[in-house]
Amino acid sequence: MTTTRATETFRRFRRLRSSEAMRSLVRETRLSPAGFVYPLFVVPGEGVRTEIASMPGQYQISIDEAVREAEEVVSLGIGGVLIFGLPSAKDEAGSEAYASDGIAQRAVRALKTAQPDLLVITDVCLCEYTSHGHCGIILDDGSVDNDRTIDLLAQVAVSHVEAGADLVAPSDMMDGRVAAIRSALDRSGFESTPIMSYAAKQASAFYGPFRVAAESAPQFGDRRGYQMDPANSREAMREIESDIEEGADIVMVKPALTNLDLIARARERFDLPLAAYNVSGEYAMLKAAVAAGYLEEERATLELLTGIKRAGADIILTYHAKEAARWLA
Ligand code: PBG
Repeated sequence: MTTTRATETFRRFRRLRSSEAMRSLVRETRLSPAGFVYPLFVVPGEGVRTEIASMPGQYQISIDEAVREAEEVVSLGIGGVLIFGLPSAKDEAGSEAYASDGIAQRAVRALKTAQPDLLVITDVCLCEYTSHGHCGIILDDGSVDNDRTIDLLAQVAVSHVEAGADLVAPSDMMDGRVAAIRSALDRSGFESTPIMSYAAKQASAFYGPFRVAAESAPQFGDRRGYQMDPANSREAMREIESDIEEGADIVMVKPALTNLDLIARARERFDLPLAAYNVSGEYAMLKAAVAAGYLEEERATLELLTGIKRAGADIILTYHAKEAARWLA
């Protein structure tokens, strides 16, 4: 006996969920390794590969190992790498950050020589290079001197591009640094090199594992005097807008998971390519839950990355890049 139902009174969404082929046909958001950027922590030495305890599967690696990583990144179709350098010595002014033979500059040269087609992005900041661990020059009152710092950051950016970097990414959150970097690059003949600014970057607890990995924790105080208050969303839009006015080519929201609303707002408001940084603490949380047997790794990771993409990010900086690229293949 068949029951007659007034099917016009409700919608049958399940029609399009009946098979993977059907679901795949109507899928709105697709991840692609080409939109991932994989961060690398480069240290002095040779044959070094030290696992970062709080970030299982991520390593501090020497330049020769980074070259091996680069080959793998290229073969997986990942969009690019983001270089963080850990210098052999730190000082008050972070001088190795802008030395032509600094760790990041040497890493960039080696990577571009070995893999000329790989997009090499550099993180432009001083915190890994300063003895005090802050992102700039410290004043007597313990705060960071904005305007002296941006001159140094401009030098860092120029030295990275001289070494061959394709794209520079200032992560310091000083005011005016994008303008300072843009004009320094232009004066040095690098008017064609784009800037990806960490535009709305918050003072976040989720950078904890990174600071262990990059040995960049501040030795006193915190970064709340320059990084954004996570509570502010209108201010985040003003930060992004001002970086665009100063000449940013790509803008970033960071962290990603706690800021899907900011990613969505920025996507609606600005037409530039938008990046989101799926930060170390987000990675560590997921890995810990997987290790405890609480989450299914592949599904959870891809769902998380899909959420960031669906919110509006074109580019996702993520420690999951290699594994996700393998799962997507
Ligand atoms: C450097 C920098 C940080 C991150 C990227 N660049 C740390 C910080 O600002 O303290 C965080 C990345 C992550 O947590 O994965 N300024």
